[in-house]
Parts: sequence; C-alpha cells; structure tokens
Amino acid sequence: MMSDIKEVLITADELQGKVKELAEQIAHDYRDKDPVLVGVLNGAFVFLADLMRYLDLACTVDFVSWSSYGKTTSSSGVFRIMKDLETNVESKHVLVVEDIIDTGLTLHYLLDTVRARRPASVRVAALLDKPSRRRIEAKADYLGFQIPDAFVVGYGLDFAQRYRNLPFIGILKPDIYAGKGTPPNEIE
Ligand code: IMP
Ligand code: MG
Repeated sequence: MMSDIKEVLITADELQGKVKELAEQIAHDYRDKDPVLVGVLNGAFVFLADLMRYLDLACTVDFVSWSSYGKTTSSSGVFRIMKDLETNVESKHVLVVEDIIDTGLTLHYLLDTVRARRPASVRVAALLDKPSRRRIEAKADYLGFQIPDAFVVGYGLDFAQRYRNLPFIGILKPDIYAGKGTPPNEIE
C-alpha cells in the first residue's frame, strides 16, 4: 500500500495531536450539553472513533450515510440518504463529524436535512478542508487541517474503498487512478 503513496501530507502523530486538541475544545464548548455526534459514513469513522475517545464528555453517537446520484446530479445537488439517523435530534445539540469538506455540497445538504429536524444547535467538526474546491458555502466550526487541492487517502479516506486503514493522510500517486475514467474527486 505504501508504494501507492506519493507523499505523506499529515503524519499519524500530527493527526493524533490535532484530534486531541479538537476534542479538548469540543469538551469545553459542550460541557453539560450532552451532544449527539453524527458521523458521516464511511470516511469519518476513523476520525470520529479517535475524537470520541479523547472527549471527556457525556455524549451519544449516531451515523448517516449520504450519497449523490453521480456527477450530474451532484452538481444539481440531488442527494440521497442511504442510512438515516436513528436518534431523534429535535432540541438536541448536534455535532456533525466529517472527514473532508471538498466542494461543500455534501455538508451543505446534510446540514439542511439536520436543521429541518429542529435541533437545539448544529455545528461541524471536519478533519480536512480543501477550500480551493468549494462550490457552495460550507464551513467547519472545528477544523483539523486545511490542505491543498490534492486527492488524499488514509485515516478513513478512500480511493475506490481502499487505503482507509492507513494511519496517516497521504497523497495518492496519480498513476494509481489514471486511466480509471473517473477523476477521484468525483467519486462518492
Ligand atoms: P464534497 O461534497 O465535495 O464536499 O465532498 C465531500 C466528500 O467527498 C468527502 O466526505 C469524501 O468522502 C469525498 N472526498 C473529497 N475529497 C476527497 C479526497 O481528497 N480523498 C478522499 N475522499 C474525498
Ligand atoms: Mg465522505
């Protein structure tokens, strides 16, 4: 797997240090609020698992799986809920946990859906942000790292479902996805 990586962008130690820092901030801000952490599957599960273990805070966890119909519909903003929340979030404090904000479309429409259920508050924790690719407004309240416009894998992020188990964030060698037809940024 390592031979498919062009460059390590964020090491495992840097990730752990930052996730711990975010958890301390969140624990401080959410004291006595009993938040619901909402992980966006599949990419956010590693970040969420580490984040909640550093959280010295009473909280619950739930997951959503959210997918676009593909390239054309993604640009028109048509998304489909593959797995909905099991928690009734009305009057609850929701913290959405995402792996990466890229175009912003996923997060934008997910937040609309969550807000329609009238939670007490909604905030976003995102591990990574690629602001240069934004197509619609989307912003993290708690952000790990801003990264350049490169396709990254590891720590939950995949290419064609692989590489999620790498403990660091790495840039994939372009020849790994070259010739596969779909640019990786359009996948999912
Ligand atoms: P957005 O809707 O364009 O903001 O896309 C967000 C989703 O696209 C993320 O939750 C990831 O699943 C996926 N994604 C975007 N950029 C990358 C990347 O560099 N590597 C892996 N997945 C990515
Ligand atoms: Mg994702």
